[in-house]
Amino acid sequence: MGKLSGQTAIVTGAGQGIGLSIAQKLAAEGAHVVANDLDEGACAEVVNEISARGGSGLAVPGDVTAPDFGERAVGEALSHFGDLDIIINNAGYIWNTSALNHTDEQWAAMLDMHLTAPFRLLRAAGAHFRNEAKRLISSDQPLPCRKIVNISSVSGIFGAATQISYSAAKSGVVGMTKTLAKEWGRYNVTVNAVAFGHIATRLTQPYEETPEEITIGGRAHKVGLTKQHITQIQEMTPLGRTGTPDDAAGAVVLFCYPESNFVSGQILVASGGLEM
Ligand SMILES: NC(=O)c1ccc[n+]([C@@H]2O[C@H](COP(=O)([O-])OP(=O)(O)OC[C@H]3O[C@@H](n4cnc5c(N)ncnc54)[C@H](O)[C@@H]3O)[C@@H](O)[C@H]2O)c1
Repeated sequence: MGKLSGQTAIVTGAGQGIGLSIAQKLAAEGAHVVANDLDEGACAEVVNEISARGGSGLAVPGDVTAPDFGERAVGEALSHFGDLDIIINNAGYIWNTSALNHTDEQWAAMLDMHLTAPFRLLRAAGAHFRNEAKRLISSDQPLPCRKIVNISSVSGIFGAATQISYSAAKSGVVGMTKTLAKEWGRYNVTVNAVAFGHIATRLTQPYEETPEEITIGGRAHKVGLTKQHITQIQEMTPLGRTGTPDDAAGAVVLFCYPESNFVSGQILVASGGLEM
């Protein structure tokens, strides 16, 4: 029996990086994992891997910024597993340029990705949480403690040059988290966020001269950091190193355990101690 045995968790962006580690950790604790990613193949692979280890999962591939994604993901979780206990709003990518070179399209895409899409997923789930709370209260049954963990960034807490839209969206995640913690406490839902510092994934991969490009929604985006920049960050980080996806996922999963049932509206910075 794991700590999350029989619970159902939606993890967006579970195909690789931090989301993959989160999905693996939740499954290892016995949760049914509803794994989303833009990459259909990666999504199926996560679920196959979870099943091969004796866990249970369901792939819900697709773009979280699609207006109907929230309703679809919640609907699939409920129809396959009967309830929904945990939501991790993790999917994301970066689109960086200086503020003066930011386009309206770029601004809207980052807000849509990092703030609107998580909001829509939470709104869809919230309707279920409210209905279940009413039903259980009216029949004098205890409410289970449900968990939401939103993903922010040190960029959203302290700001980061070249990331005005990303930083604004990740800052918005803080406001959304604190507001929902106030609104949904009555349904026994805890709402917290983790703001990551430098974590080694494809978004932060080292490059010498030319950054890698990833394609999201038909657009190519440069990702990665120069080796020199990575060394500078590591030197400024009290723990002296870059975080791993496992480090990042560990901070998220803390908010899913029953030990954190009285913790809500909190933003945990997982950055190896770096505060800037
Ligand atoms: N890596 C870091 O240093 C760092 C720091 C702070 C915050 N973050 C945040 O952590 C989260 C995970 O990032 P990561 O570093 O693991 O990146 P990653 O690129 O390794 O993984 C992100 C996953 O999200 C998926 N994705 C992207 N857009 C999507 C969409 N529209 N719909 C569905 N899936 C989508 C991608 O396909 C990918 O599998 C993001 O929200 C990111 O902003 C990362």
